[in-house]
Amino acid sequence: MDWEERYARFGRVFGDHPTPFLSSLLESGFLSEGFSAALVPGDGYGRNGLALARAGVAVTACDLSPTAVRRAAEQARRESLPYVSRAADLADASQAEAFARSVAPADLLASLWFRIPDEAAGCRWNALACRALRPAGVILVVTAQGLASPREEQSRWPSGIVWEDRSTTEETRLIGRLPLG
Ligand SMILES: C[S@@+](CC[C@H](N)C(=O)[O-])C[C@H]1O[C@@H](n2cnc3c(N)ncnc32)[C@H](O)[C@@H]1O
Repeated sequence: MDWEERYARFGRVFGDHPTPFLSSLLESGFLSEGFSAALVPGDGYGRNGLALARAGVAVTACDLSPTAVRRAAEQARRESLPYVSRAADLADASQAEAFARSVAPADLLASLWFRIPDEAAGCRWNALACRALRPAGVILVVTAQGLASPREEQSRWPSGIVWEDRSTTEETRLIGRLPLG
């Protein structure tokens, strides 16, 4: 079953709360670093991106599933949140480039449970996403340890990022910081 069908049939399959790593960062005042704009790829129905928007960050998101994108946008409208999302396949080079080009420079990239299985396409998207970040921009990554260890995950990102590893036994959790410029 693909993502579009899964969301259309089962709705909010990951629940209503943001992923625990993001929740803990929000609770610990991580956003007091003063983020103003975030890029959130593969945001599904928006449980993570909308949480960032509620914290006052302007979010540009996308997802493969038009149904999930529509539901996230409806929720954002109901709450008058600074959140936009659009349908895009980031494994497709031309769609990924068009999406990265269309976003205003961001200071936060939240790649939370979003991973392109094909390594070349995944590296290409990560590099494009980093170029959409301002100097000293911050990257949050969450994925399953079973899919990628912290070291494997870091190998998919451009060099020069300083990584902080906050992983658990189950989840690869990383905070990356781009160079000052
Ligand atoms: C495991 S789900 C997580 C969704 C969301 N990040 C969350 O934590 O609730 C992975 C998401 O990535 C999206 N996705 C998968 N491949 C994608 C691609 N090539 N381009 C854009 N989105 C994609 C799926 O539609 C799905 O919403």
